[in-house]
Amino acid sequence: MTETTLAGRVAIVTGGARGIGAAIARALVDAGASVVVADNGTAIDGNAPDPVVAENAAAQMGPRAAPFTTTLGSPEAATALVRATLDRFGALDIVVNNAAIIRDAFIFKAAPADWDAVIRTNLSAAYYLLGAATPVLRDHAKAGRGGIGDKPVYRWGRIVNIISSAAFYGNYGQTAYGASKGGLFGLTRNVAHDLARAGITCNAVAPFAHTRVTESIVPANDAQAAYKARALTVDPRHVGTLVAYLASEAAQSITGQLFGVRGRDVFLFSQPRPIAHAISTGRDFDPASLARAVEANFAGKFAELVTDLEAFNTDPIV
Ligand SMILES: NC(=O)c1ccc[n+]([C@@H]2O[C@H](COP(=O)([O-])OP(=O)(O)OC[C@H]3O[C@@H](n4cnc5c(N)ncnc54)[C@H](O)[C@@H]3O)[C@@H](O)[C@H]2O)c1
Repeated sequence: MTETTLAGRVAIVTGGARGIGAAIARALVDAGASVVVADNGTAIDGNAPDPVVAENAAAQMGPRAAPFTTTLGSPEAATALVRATLDRFGALDIVVNNAAIIRDAFIFKAAPADWDAVIRTNLSAAYYLLGAATPVLRDHAKAGRGGIGDKPVYRWGRIVNIISSAAFYGNYGQTAYGASKGGLFGLTRNVAHDLARAGITCNAVAPFAHTRVTESIVPANDAQAAYKARALTVDPRHVGTLVAYLASEAAQSITGQLFGVRGRDVFLFSQPRPIAHAISTGRDFDPASLARAVEANFAGKFAELVTDLEAFNTDPIV
C-alpha cells in the first residue's frame, strides 16, 4: 500500500460528470476510492438540468462510482447527498466542491437573480455540503476510521474546494463568478481552522484546463484570445492528479493552502498578507499626511490590475 492509495476511501465530487470534475472523479476511482458523482447535468449557466449526464458518467467509471442527480444549492440537497453516500458506500472521507455555473455580465448591467443563482451554486452549495458532511468526517475521526498499516489514528478526512484565479485577479464581466470563488477561498481557510484539531484538511485548487467552459470564452482582447487558444491545449486530467494527491495520506500535513494546476505545472499561490506599512507617529494621519505616507511606503507595491486571462497568457506546459 503506497502513501497515495485511496483504497477503501469514499468521496463525493460535485459537478463530477463533466470537465474538471469528471477528471477528478476518475482520478479518485483510479486511486482506489469509491466516488459519488453529484451532478445535475446542467448547462453552463445552470439551466436545463439532465440526470442522464451523471448516470452515464458514473456508469463509465465503473462499479465504484454512483450518480447523484439532485440539484445542489440547498441544505436539503446536501443532507440527501451525504445520506445517499453513506447508504451506498457506508462512509465518507473526501469531499470535492467542484460544481459551478457562470452567468457573466458587467456589474453595471448585471441582474440580481443571476448573482443569487451563481452564489447559491458556487458558494452556498459548498457551505451546505460541508455543513452536512463534516459531522460525518469528525465522527469517523473519533472512531479511528482510516488508519492504515501501523498508523491506527484517523488520517483521512479531506476537503478540496475548486476555486478560480478570477477570485483574486478578476476578469471583465465576472463579478458574480469571481466573488463566489473568492468566497469559496474564504470558506476554505475558515473550515481548515475548524477541522485542524480533527486532522481533517481543507485546501483550495485554482485549475486551468480545456472544458466546455474554456471553449465558451468570448475574448475581450487579443491577449484573451491568445489565452483561450493556449487553454484549449490543457488536459483536465492534471487537476485530477493534484486532487487525488491532496486526498491521500501523503498530504496529511497540508491544509488551508491554495494550489494552481495548469497542465504539468502545479503551483502554490501566495495568500494575502501585509506587504508594506504606513504608520503615523505622534499623531493620527489626516488625509494629506496619509497620502504622503502611502506614496512613500506603498508606491511600486500595488497589485497590477490585470485579468487572470492576461496574467496566465503564457505557454502552458502540457
Ligand atoms: N475550465 C477551467 O479552466 C476552469 C478555470 C477556473 C476554475 N474552474 C472551475 O473548475 C470547476 C469545473 O469547471 P468545468 O470547466 O469543468 O465546468 P463544467 O461546466 O464543464 O462542469 C461543471 C459541472 O457542474 C455541474 N453542476 C452545475 N451546477 C450544479 C448543481 N447546482 N448541482 C449539481 N451539479 C451542478 C454541471 O452539470 C457540470 O457537469 C468549476 O468550479 C469552475 O469554476 C475551471
